[in-house]
Amino acid sequence: MAVDLVILTLAGAVATLSVLALRQRVAAKKLPPGPKPLPLIGNALNLTTKELWLRAAEWAKQYGEIVYISAAGIPMVFLNDYKAYNDLLHNRGDIYSDKPRMVMTGELCGAEYMVPFTGAGDRMRRQRRILVKAIGAGSIKTYEPILDGQSRDFVQNLTKPGMDFRKTLLWYNAGLTLMVLYGHKVTSADDRFMKLAAESTEVLSNKLVTGGGVWAVDIFPFLRYLPSWLPGAGFKRSAVEWKKLIEDFVNEPYEDCKEKIKNGTATPSFTSLAFDNKENMSEQEDFDLRWTTNSMYVGSIDTTGSAIANFVLAMVRHPEVLAKAQAEVDSVVGHSRLPDFGDRPAMPYIEAMLSECLRYATPAPLNLPHQLMQDDEYNGYFLPKGSWVIGNIWAIARDETAYPDPNSFKPERFLEPVDGETKKRLDPRNYVFGAGRRRCPGIHLVEAGLWLVIARIVATLDIRKKVVDGVEVEPEVSYDNAFLRIPSAFQFDIKPRPHVNWDLL
Ligand code: HEM
Repeated sequence: MAVDLVILTLAGAVATLSVLALRQRVAAKKLPPGPKPLPLIGNALNLTTKELWLRAAEWAKQYGEIVYISAAGIPMVFLNDYKAYNDLLHNRGDIYSDKPRMVMTGELCGAEYMVPFTGAGDRMRRQRRILVKAIGAGSIKTYEPILDGQSRDFVQNLTKPGMDFRKTLLWYNAGLTLMVLYGHKVTSADDRFMKLAAESTEVLSNKLVTGGGVWAVDIFPFLRYLPSWLPGAGFKRSAVEWKKLIEDFVNEPYEDCKEKIKNGTATPSFTSLAFDNKENMSEQEDFDLRWTTNSMYVGSIDTTGSAIANFVLAMVRHPEVLAKAQAEVDSVVGHSRLPDFGDRPAMPYIEAMLSECLRYATPAPLNLPHQLMQDDEYNGYFLPKGSWVIGNIWAIARDETAYPDPNSFKPERFLEPVDGETKKRLDPRNYVFGAGRRRCPGIHLVEAGLWLVIARIVATLDIRKKVVDGVEVEPEVSYDNAFLRIPSAFQFDIKPRPHVNWDLL
């Protein structure tokens, strides 16, 4: 009881001091507008655990291109239009590429060496070099045979009796990524690495982002020294469990690949190639490689999964789009083979579908927070050093002036002739993958892999609303995460198109 009282008093004192310190620093400066803060806790209660992007979009409508809130002394800036997003995160990338200190996720749960949580500096530069080598534009051709095999299995698995869509999708995504990164072939739903990965990404993208990703210990770092047994220190007990899970996830597939390299049984993969090209790897190189490889897995699974799931949902809701796409694929590819990368230039409608899929799905509707490294000014507003700067990708993708009827899936919007500047503004690749020095390095893999999956689904599958007692059922979907737009399970019917003979394709 006495300990509780001391801790509460300390926490209260620190909260007051950090809020007062921020207030003093920004006094008399013109901050961007935003919802009214409460004393001490600021706007902390405005941060929701579900679809935070919808709330951020309401603020965008009410306050405009740039919104400021503070969560118990942490200043947060939301960039709500394409211009502000680009002007700051991209054009001023030298001071907008740091990452916030996240005590819970980074230090207590051990994710601080994962790329999305690494601050600006030497480690970030070393990791980004590894990423360019692994999945930069120049290396994607290497992965085409794997993309071919995995997407072929995926479309077939989608029509198996009793198919569970979310499990089948995870198998495709996890199988592809484990193969590309570690040369590991997933052969069953019980695969140890796939399960480990699913549990860890669930912790990272769901449990740890509760309350907008901010934990009390992020605001009051001294709370990390509380003994775990203390009431109110449940976060420390969770952290011990989650840290172990995350470390196993980082180390096990990597060590397995190293073991196979030693035995001469490794399938070529990014990790095995990295070792082939190095006689002696230093401890630091080994450490950077294991964490960066794992970060590619973390970065890819839920985002790519969201894009594919939202695409299937769009096909359920927009049968006219699927029919148009099928007509294009049939005329270019015919019925005796699957579409391949060589067909890409001849299929503009599928290309437009890929663009619309990225915009409509908006897998990461709020960009991962960047941290501002020095005081800055934009359009007459003061932006304090240390602010979390969050790109509101959702508001940009649903901007009605750029995309009329933004909630409908309309590939045609990308086929209209427009000038170069407008084309650039409309292309979702220029914002859905983040911006500046932290922009998603997976973009080239997504470009290739997602295109192939879309083209092959269109070529081989009929997707329809479920019919119950002769009535079509509208799919009901919820989005339960604060940062990633992952649809819940939804009802639909899927079957092979009449001409499909899997033995021939
Ligand atoms: C549709 C699929 C994807 C989307 C929409 C997406 C989106 C994003 C976004 C918005 C960011 C934050 C960028 C920023 O902070 O400015 C990011 C970061 C990242 N993504 Fe992706 N991503 C996708 C797929 C992938 C794939 C396939 C990989 C790897 C194979 C990957 C690896 C990463 C990594 C490592 C980072 C952290 C970069 C850094 O902080 O420096 N992503 N992604």
